[in-house]
Amino acid sequence: MSTALNQANQAVNRLRSEVKKDFYPEFHLTPPAGWMNDPNGLIYFNGLYHAFYQHHPFDENWGPMHWGHMTSPDLVHWQHQLIALAPDQDYDRDGCFSGCAVDDNGVLTLIYTGHRWLKEVGDDSAIQEVQCIATSEDGIYFTKHGPILQPPKDIMHFRDPKVWKQDERWYLVVGARDLHDTGQILLYSATDLRHWQFERILARASQKQGYMWECPDFFPLQDKFILMFSPQGIQAEGYQFRNQFQSGYLIGNWTPNNPFNVEHDFQELDAGHDFYAPQSFLAADGRRIIFGWMDMWESPMPSKADHWAGSFTLPRELSLGKQGNILIRPIRELTALRQNDIHIPPIQIISQHKTLDCPASSIELQVIFDLKQSTAERYGLELMASEDGKYATRLYIDNQAARLIFDRSQSGKAVTGYRSVPLNSHADSLHLHIFIDRSSVEIFINHGENCITSRIYPLGENHRVNLYAENGSACISSFQGWQL
Ligand code: FRU
Repeated sequence: MSTALNQANQAVNRLRSEVKKDFYPEFHLTPPAGWMNDPNGLIYFNGLYHAFYQHHPFDENWGPMHWGHMTSPDLVHWQHQLIALAPDQDYDRDGCFSGCAVDDNGVLTLIYTGHRWLKEVGDDSAIQEVQCIATSEDGIYFTKHGPILQPPKDIMHFRDPKVWKQDERWYLVVGARDLHDTGQILLYSATDLRHWQFERILARASQKQGYMWECPDFFPLQDKFILMFSPQGIQAEGYQFRNQFQSGYLIGNWTPNNPFNVEHDFQELDAGHDFYAPQSFLAADGRRIIFGWMDMWESPMPSKADHWAGSFTLPRELSLGKQGNILIRPIRELTALRQNDIHIPPIQIISQHKTLDCPASSIELQVIFDLKQSTAERYGLELMASEDGKYATRLYIDNQAARLIFDRSQSGKAVTGYRSVPLNSHADSLHLHIFIDRSSVEIFINHGENCITSRIYPLGENHRVNLYAENGSACISSFQGWQL
C-alpha cells in the first residue's frame, strides 16, 4: 500500500473515535469519519456490491479527494473497507475525482478523473483533468496504471467518466465544459479500456441549461435510453431548479454510431434540497438502481462539528413511467431493515393536532391520505416533532395550491426552506412512503412519481410523529410504520 494510502487510512481511523453520533445515520452509507460526496464505482462484482465514494479522510471538509469504499452482500448491510485510491501520483495529485467501476474480463477496474490545480488550489480557471485507470486482484487493493484519456483541445473541465460494454465494445461518457461555458457530455468508444476514440458530443446545453454537466450516466431503461447528469448553472424557475446545482435526466433513443434522439426536456430526479451526482448500476437480477449524494454543495452541514459530513441516499430502483418520466422507488430489499411494527389505532378523520405514539428518528412510514374526503385547507404530518412543540419538519397537503409541501423551516439546526410537488388533480388518494434516518428525510410519492430528499438536523427531545389538520378535517385511509 502506498504511503499516501496508509496515511489516509490511519487518519480516518483516528478521526473515527471523535465522531459524535447525534445526527449520524443508522442505515445509510456514510463515511466512518471525514467528508463524503459523490457515489463512485457502483458495481455488483463476484457476488458482492461495491460502493466507492468521494472522500476526504483527514477532516470533515472537502479536500484532496480519495475513494472511500464499502461492500455489501445484499444492498442493505454494508461494511467499511480500506480506502481504495489516494491522490499520490503526478497526474492525480490534487484529487482522484469521480468515476466508475467495470468488470474487465473478471478484473475489477476503476476509471476515474485525475485532477490537478495548475495555479492555486480551488482556482477553477486553471485545472487539468485526465481519465485514469486502476485495477484490483482482490477487490480491496488497487494498482494504478495512469491516464488513458486526455481532454480534447480547449477543454479543461473534463471529468466523471462512466463506462459500459455494449455489443462487445466499450463506451465512455464524460462531463465537459467548453470554451463558451456550455455544459456537455462527450461520448468515446474503445475495444480495450486503454485506447479511446472520440465518437460525438452526445448532448449539450442549450441556453440556460448550465455551464458544466457533471457526473453523466447513460443507460438503457426498458426500450429507452436515459442520460442522467448533474448540471451546474441552471437558474431557479418557479418551483423547479431551486438547489445550488441540479440532477436529472433526458430520455430518448440511442444505438451505437447514432446520435441520441432526445424525446423530453430535462427533468429533475428529486424535488428535495439534498440530492446530487446520482450514479446507477445493475443489481444481480438486472434492476437498474441509483444512489445519490444526499447533500448539496454549499449547504450548511452541522454534522461537521461532529467530524463527519455526507451520506448516500437509499438505493432506488428506476423504471419507466407512462408520461416520458422515470419512476423512482426504494428497493424492495430495504424491508429487511424493519424491526418493530409501530402500532397506530385504525384511522381516522382528524380535525386538529394529534400526537401519535410513534417514535420518529429511524423509521419507515406508509401513509395514504384520502384527498376527496379531506376538507382541511392544510393537513399532513409533523415528522421529528419535539415534545415541547418547538421543532418539527412538516409534510403537508396545501389544498388551495394543490401541492404537497415539505417544510423544514422549523426542523432544528441550520437548514431552512420549502420544496414541493404538484398533486395529481385526478387522483383520489395520495400515497406517501417515508424514510427518516436521524438527519435525513426521503419521501417517495405515489409509488415513485416524485421524490423529495432533504437533510434536517433536529433539535429538542423525544421526537414523535404528529398528524394535523387546519380549518377542516383530514382523512387518513391507511397508516403503517416500522422502526428501523
Ligand atoms: C460532483 C463533483 C464531480 C467531481 C467531484 C469532486 O459533485 O464536483 O464533478 O468529480 O465532485 O469531488
